[in-house]
Amino acid sequence: MSAPYIVTISSDKGGVGKTTLATNLAIYLKALHEDLPVTLLSFDNHFSVDQMFRINRKSAQGDVGSLFTGSNPDNLVEIGEYGVQFIPSSDQMHILRRELDDPTALARALAKSSLTGIVVIDTRPDLDIFTQSALYVADRVIVPVKDAPSMDNCQHIYDFFDFHSLSRRPLRILPCLVDKRIRYNGPFSDPYQLLKAYAINRGYRCMEGYIAKSPKVESLNTNPEGKIYPVLTHGRNTEVHVQMTHIARQVYLGSIDTDVRRLDEYRMDMAHSEEEHQSAYEKRRNSLITGCLICGNPLVEKERIGPAGYFAQSSDQKISGFIEEECFNSLVFRYFYGAKRTVEAHNPIWDLFRESAQRSYFLLQRAPHTRNFYQQKLSFYRFDDDGLEVSHKIIELQEFEKRLLSKERSDLFPLLERTLFDNQGRLGDTFLLLRKVSSDLPEEIFYEQNFATFTRIMAKVSTQLP
Ligand SMILES: Nc1ncnc2c1ncn2[C@@H]1O[C@H](COP(=O)(O)OP(=O)(O)O)[C@@H](O)[C@H]1O
Ligand SMILES: [Mg+2]
Repeated sequence: MSAPYIVTISSDKGGVGKTTLATNLAIYLKALHEDLPVTLLSFDNHFSVDQMFRINRKSAQGDVGSLFTGSNPDNLVEIGEYGVQFIPSSDQMHILRRELDDPTALARALAKSSLTGIVVIDTRPDLDIFTQSALYVADRVIVPVKDAPSMDNCQHIYDFFDFHSLSRRPLRILPCLVDKRIRYNGPFSDPYQLLKAYAINRGYRCMEGYIAKSPKVESLNTNPEGKIYPVLTHGRNTEVHVQMTHIARQVYLGSIDTDVRRLDEYRMDMAHSEEEHQSAYEKRRNSLITGCLICGNPLVEKERIGPAGYFAQSSDQKISGFIEEECFNSLVFRYFYGAKRTVEAHNPIWDLFRESAQRSYFLLQRAPHTRNFYQQKLSFYRFDDDGLEVSHKIIELQEFEKRLLSKERSDLFPLLERTLFDNQGRLGDTFLLLRKVSSDLPEEIFYEQNFATFTRIMAKVSTQLP
């Protein structure tokens, strides 16, 4: 099943005939090809679409706003007049607008749907996030312009395409509300000729033809019944009828001419990046040391990881693994709070530490100027959630002075042996970064977003080290 062909009507200017074009285009497309599914939606906060197409009262499934909050478009589509389907408009767009910033949100929603045929999207005269979303998925963008200033505004739409590295191929200018009674002296004899010349001069491509200004068309939405009538049914003897037919035919031909539709492309990109994420995830997971980096208890198994408290990775990314929570906590306590090896059950400092550890990164590295093997020292840093240094302590690796373990070996040694020591027991230049993980799902750290954060913090803290 092929993705729908998506036509977005957009311009930065109001009152250029966007809504009139969008609603009538849907009707003309349907009239041209009875079997073609045509779906119309509007991101504007007026209810022209609903007024024009609604047959029954709204069933409370949702509206165009729901597209941005995870609803499948299939559940939002209403069967409307003239055989056109529509998704009801929303009066909550101004609220949603504040929460959204991702122009791919609509593509994501439509990618879930089983819509086919042609989807026509009417937008607000503003490059807000809804308009951006509609531009992002469009196979065809029609930009109605009625004068030179509205032509200047087109640049913002072109810039949007460039900014997102989208092909400009879908973009077309359409002169609208053209008053043919106006005549000019000189090479461009009327407003249409003039607008076309402007467009060509700026490198914009145009639809064939234009939409004339017609008092009859204007009157179709100013009547005592408060209804909006289509040109097809109520303006058949106007030139706009002929012009709309011509525009609809071009749109239809464009749709059968497009081999790979934008939404197909988006679906392929999604599948591809899904695959990439998956393989990056597997790679991270498969290169782990399997035991706790301190006590050696098995933590990383085929089906699950845990129970683990911390994730650790070396800065050269060669070593990574997990540590049991209490192993690391005892370590921290021994060196920072002078605590005994065993954990006291109800020590408030412990609770405090556990709580703040959630928002910390820990870092181990050879202390500056301590290359001498017999005086190895370790820097132990703590950073906050944003990767800014909170504390720094230097630990002497006394046990190494004599190479004889007079005391009980500290937990630090097995950790360093598994991570930072070379095979002679020397600290190199790499550091080890540790982060608290969710004990229920330690592998969460490998999810795209989380791992990106971890990597970003690793880069950030490394710039603060001596
Ligand atoms: N071809 C036309 N001839 C005359 N008036 C038109 C035509 N197309 C639209 N209008 C009128 O122009 C006004 C703005 O049109 P509309 O489609 O709402 O523009 P937009 O959606 O860009 O704000 C409306 O009053 C509409 O009736
Ligand atoms: Mg409008």
